[in-house]
Amino acid sequence: MGFRHNSRSMLQLFLLISSCFSLGFSVDTLRFNQSIRDSDFLVSNGQNLKFGFFSPGNNTHRYVGVMYNNISAMTVVWTANRDSPLNDSNGTVQISSDGNLVILDGQMGVVWSSNLSSSVTNSSVRLLDTGNLVLQNSDGRIVWQSFQHASDSFMPNMRIMTDLSTNERNMLTSWRSPNDPSLGSFTALIEPLQIPQLFIRNGSDPYWRSGPWNGQIFIGVPGMEVNLYQNGFDLVNDNPETAYLTFSYVNISVLTYFALNSSGNFQQKLLSHRNGDWEVTWSSIQNECDVYGKCGSFGSCNARDNPICTCLPGFEPKNIDEWNAANWSNGCTRRTPLQSERNDSFGEIDGFLELNRVKLPDNTRWSLTLEADCGSQCLNTSSCIAYAFYTGIGCMLWNESLIDVQKFSSGGADLYIRLAYSELHKKRNWTSIIATTVVLGFITISVCTLFCLKWYRADRFTRGHSIRDGETIISERERFALGFFSPQGSSVRYVGIWYYKVANEPVVWVANRETPVLDNGGALTIGNDGNLIVLNGDNNIIWSSK
Ligand SMILES: *[C@@H]1O[C@H](CO)[C@@H](O)[C@H](O)[C@H]1NC(C)=O
Ligand SMILES: *[C@@H]1O[C@H](CO)[C@@H](O)[C@H](O)[C@H]1NC(C)=O
Ligand SMILES: *[C@@H]1O[C@H](CO)[C@@H](O)[C@H](O)[C@H]1NC(C)=O
Ligand SMILES: *[C@@H]1O[C@H](CO)[C@@H](O)[C@H](O)[C@H]1NC(C)=O
Ligand SMILES: *[C@@H]1O[C@H](CO)[C@@H](O)[C@H](O)[C@H]1NC(C)=O
Ligand SMILES: *[C@@H]1O[C@H](CO)[C@@H](O)[C@H](O)[C@H]1NC(C)=O
Ligand SMILES: *[C@@H]1O[C@H](CO)[C@@H](O)[C@H](O)[C@H]1NC(C)=O
Ligand SMILES: *[C@@H]1O[C@H](CO)[C@@H](O)[C@H](O)[C@H]1NC(C)=O
Ligand SMILES: *[C@@H]1O[C@H](CO)[C@@H](O)[C@H](O)[C@H]1NC(C)=O
Ligand SMILES: *[C@@H]1O[C@H](CO)[C@@H](O)[C@H](O)[C@H]1NC(C)=O
Ligand SMILES: *[C@@H]1O[C@H](CO)[C@@H](O)[C@H](O)[C@H]1NC(C)=O
Ligand SMILES: *[C@@H]1O[C@H](CO)[C@@H](O)[C@H](O)[C@H]1NC(C)=O
Repeated sequence: MGFRHNSRSMLQLFLLISSCFSLGFSVDTLRFNQSIRDSDFLVSNGQNLKFGFFSPGNNTHRYVGVMYNNISAMTVVWTANRDSPLNDSNGTVQISSDGNLVILDGQMGVVWSSNLSSSVTNSSVRLLDTGNLVLQNSDGRIVWQSFQHASDSFMPNMRIMTDLSTNERNMLTSWRSPNDPSLGSFTALIEPLQIPQLFIRNGSDPYWRSGPWNGQIFIGVPGMEVNLYQNGFDLVNDNPETAYLTFSYVNISVLTYFALNSSGNFQQKLLSHRNGDWEVTWSSIQNECDVYGKCGSFGSCNARDNPICTCLPGFEPKNIDEWNAANWSNGCTRRTPLQSERNDSFGEIDGFLELNRVKLPDNTRWSLTLEADCGSQCLNTSSCIAYAFYTGIGCMLWNESLIDVQKFSSGGADLYIRLAYSELHKKRNWTSIIATTVVLGFITISVCTLFCLKWYRADRFTRGHSIRDGETIISERERFALGFFSPQGSSVRYVGIWYYKVANEPVVWVANRETPVLDNGGALTIGNDGNLIVLNGDNNIIWSSK
């Protein structure tokens, strides 16, 4: 056994540690009475990683850490003495008499310690091939491990963890600069709460977030499902206060890890066999829209638009001059007050507008509510301003502001934002937005819809509400649509229900089968007698549910 080293103090080392030492081949374990000198290394069993002293770039200080072995570019994945570097190469790494792993300076002063409060007898330190440096007691039980005291790198099988009940956290903290391992301003951590997300902060300011975890992926990270299988991510939260994130790359012969760089970018790197260097295969910040809250509250960011920020439909810039000068931080404000804000309990009921393929806003509240009831749950809570339902997560509600909304070209989720009735009926041609009127929006429309409509009618449908030709109501699960249609080759209009988003939109039910509307002036509404009625352009009843 011996250390892999080329130290000039090798002789000293030989004298100090009598027996077990030989040159030229490496060990992965440091025992009591042994020490690692500057330029010695522990090397993991599979030779992937090594543990010892290093100086990054032009930095002349000496640090101790774990780095990839046998790779031309020095790649440090864990650093012990980030904020207490050594000034010379007289330092050593040892196991202290109480069993702690310690870094000593040339005067045998402790500059860093694993800081275990209770002493461990006959402990040893081993570098595993995963990159985890573990301190074991004489029974081989792990009493301390570098994977639970992360630096800036997230290695396969490591856990980024937050436990709010004990206030324990294992998070990533960036380096201060590419040549300075001391604690930088960026952190990456799991925020458990009700729906866990991965959060990057700059100091205390949010800088990036993953969006909610749906059991398989973070739905705010476009394209994550593509690498789902390869990366093998797992987020475990057994109770609302604890969660951890881990991954295990499926092809173990591929070297890969994630790192939070000193400018706050979280990146996945893969060792390229072509040139033996790291390739960045994913970055958290791919465009300006990925920066948290780029467009302020009630703003929406689209990287393919110019300018990138717009207000959500129904909202307008809080400060138009700032907004036009591309200073979007102040965000937008609601144009028409909601019914509750107007103190108008008998007036027209608010509705929801559907936004497709968005990064859902931050600060969501989870509600134990079925999909069919999620919208009415929101509508019945005057403080609720938006909702979304996502398989694997459930019903999400928003209360205060809608921040960090981004429009994706694929992926994302559908968000329903609450707007005043008049806003919804002001403008009908928002692209890819379907105005859903309140009353019918939540009902899972099926062939038996008629009864449901009658049932909901009494407390929801106020006089004057109607669905005009061109407007559609989409059922909660988007399986059915209700509205006006013309059969192929015909120009007359019928009211009916059809499969939504299904080829040829097959019609499953028709109201006015015998009495089509002859033009586009028809409407579906509730008559004075409480029946569902179809009116023609002259406001004559041509069909009734009576
Ligand atoms: C460590 O070295 C001291 C003296 O050199 C010796 O007394 C002690 O038994 C050694 N301990 C172990 C665990 O080898
Ligand atoms: C190291 O290089 C960086 C730029 O590459 C420079 O900003 C820094 O001052 C240098 N540090 C030292 C100690 O020379
Ligand atoms: C180290 O790299 C050399 C050349 O790049 C290669 O021949 C050798 O097999 C590598 N050793 C290990 C343990 O990966
Ligand atoms: C390194 O030098 C600085 C200033 O020269 C000193 O403050 C610091 O204590 C030294 N660190 C060690 C570990 O000797
Ligand atoms: C190691 O320490 C000795 C004094 O203890 C000092 O003379 C020497 O310069 C130091 N070595 C280095 C490389 O700094
Ligand atoms: C160890 O504990 C001391 C005193 O509580 C503290 O100053 C130091 O930062 C701790 N070191 C580590 C590596 O946690
Ligand atoms: C410490 O560990 C070594 C090697 O595993 C063993 O030979 C020795 O007996 C142990 N000493 C004590 C005090 O447990
Ligand atoms: C991080 O915060 C600091 C201090 O508030 C600020 O100067 C810096 O610009 C921020 N960095 C980024 C990338 O936002
Ligand atoms: C795993 O990765 C290695 C190196 O890139 C490659 O040669 C091998 O085909 C991969 N194996 C699988 C099963 O994908
Ligand atoms: C961090 O990563 C981003 C994206 O790859 C890159 O543009 C930036 O230069 C990196 N920052 C540092 C300090 O290396
Ligand atoms: C944007 O506007 C805010 C005030 O709302 C101001 O504090 C900030 O300096 C402005 N930013 C820029 C880049 O002008
Ligand atoms: C609505 O009522 C609340 C409390 O009764 C009052 O504070 C608020 O100003 C009213 N809003 C409007 C628009 O009248």
